Amino acid sequence: MLIRQLTNNDSDAFYELIDITVNSLENQEFWLPIKDEVRTHFFDKSWTVLFGAFEGSTLVGAVGLFLNESEYSESLSYLSRTYEGPAKVDRLMVHPNYRGRGVTDELMKELIAEAKRLKVKNLLATIHPQNTVARSAMQRIGMELMCSYMNKDGYFRNVFVMPVKEKKKGFFGLI
Ligand SMILES: CC(C)(COP(=O)(O)OP(=O)(O)OC[C@H]1O[C@@H](n2cnc3c(N)ncnc32)[C@H](O)[C@@H]1OP(=O)(O)O)[C@@H](O)C(=O)NCCC(=O)NCCS
Repeated sequence: MLIRQLTNNDSDAFYELIDITVNSLENQEFWLPIKDEVRTHFFDKSWTVLFGAFEGSTLVGAVGLFLNESEYSESLSYLSRTYEGPAKVDRLMVHPNYRGRGVTDELMKELIAEAKRLKVKNLLATIHPQNTVARSAMQRIGMELMCSYMNKDGYFRNVFVMPVKEKKKGFFGLI
């Protein structure tokens, strides 16, 4: 499985995977409608860094690291303290035929590495309270549930936060 950042050349495959994902949802509220402003910035790296998982040349999974404040300001506003250097993980999806194989963990590994490179200090994720598969994937990487709210469009969401830690060097920086 190859994990790499997506570019404009991948946009058809990316939108196709979104359609497949939306059609496979057990609850339509698990996937928020994509706003035009967000869509126009999908391949703008100063705003969104998208990662794709490929089996051969087929895109089978994707996730986005959303860097623009407008992407996470509402979720942040419900938290009881401020978080330095925030960014949001969103649009996590794996093709139904490839689920349960650890594709999400592979995608998240690359996303966290990029977040470190970009000096992101805190990663946020908002997940529907009944989306237990997405929740356990986020908790596996160290995300903690901080609060729940109904967003201004009427969708319930749990907010998860994880500090992005620099890896500590071992003895003499050897390990
Ligand atoms: C959430 C999602 C990305 C997880 O993808 P994934 O890579 O399969 O995640 P994992 O490998 O961690 O598998 C998670 C669980 O899926 C379940 N699973 C296993 N095989 C499966 C299969 N063939 N089909 C569906 N689910 C399966 C298992 O419960 C597994 O948990 P386990 O590892 O404890 O057995 C995927 O389910 C998805 O695309 N869902 C729809 C979109 C969505 O809800 N996105 C999140 C929005 S916040």
